[in-house]
Amino acid sequence: MEKKSIPELKAMASKGEKITMLTAYDYPTAKILEKAGVDTILVGDSLGMVVLGYDSTVPVTMADMLHHTKAVRRGAPNTFVVVDLPYLSYATPQDALRNAGCLIQQGGADAVKLEGGQDYAATVTFLTKSGIPVVGHIGLTPQTATQLGGFKVQGKDLDGAKKLLQDAQAIAQAGAIMLVLEAIPSALAEKITNEINIPTIGIGAGNKCSGQVLVFHDLVGLFDRFVPKFVKQYENLAEKIELAVKQYCQEVKESVFPSEQHSFSLNEEVLTRLYGDK
Ligand code: KIV
Repeated sequence: MEKKSIPELKAMASKGEKITMLTAYDYPTAKILEKAGVDTILVGDSLGMVVLGYDSTVPVTMADMLHHTKAVRRGAPNTFVVVDLPYLSYATPQDALRNAGCLIQQGGADAVKLEGGQDYAATVTFLTKSGIPVVGHIGLTPQTATQLGGFKVQGKDLDGAKKLLQDAQAIAQAGAIMLVLEAIPSALAEKITNEINIPTIGIGAGNKCSGQVLVFHDLVGLFDRFVPKFVKQYENLAEKIELAVKQYCQEVKESVFPSEQHSFSLNEEVLTRLYGDK
């Protein structure tokens, strides 16, 4: 499969063909996602929570994002890779340019994602004009969840819904290539999708968006600290892995593993001489 280009992703959305996006943070997962045919991979700063064990995405650094982006790119050379700009790495347009440039030039990212609405439109324009494709992210924005009153659905009242519509329009007009809508009512996501000219990628935003994104660890049941309402667990890998590890431990304790099948043999003559030479 060839890597999808930005025009191809936009064309999919205009034809009503859904865009799939999943997070990945490492080489083997990226390899599986590419083989499975996912359209785009997101190296999300959810990395901080589902892989590094932090309580939020705030502690994630540029060094973390770069390290994991390189691994994902090695695993999925033919997939469009979007990478999150971590907390405070885009506080000024100049910071944004330096850090986004690093993720693209050194990490091999195809685009960067940043959280925020109208306040970040100028940064989106600045990056876009500098040749850096940007994906926006509005609604529940985890990096600033404290200011939003926690991990809550956004845009439920009229003012909130109007503000998100304006945010979406501002980010689209600023030149973003796609827009992630997180934890907002489905009808609002549908209205935003109809009003802007770039694909919307929903997570907890209903099924009228141009595409969907989920955190890989949520999808396969590898993160159980909390499971948001919008997550569908397609597998429970944590249970399966625990079972495999328990079986391994038991077989080692009982000297069942390694069996001959997993061991190397020594020629009889070498063995005899080895003992004879003692
Ligand atoms: O960091 C992330 O994984 C994200 C998705 C939840 C969209 O931003």
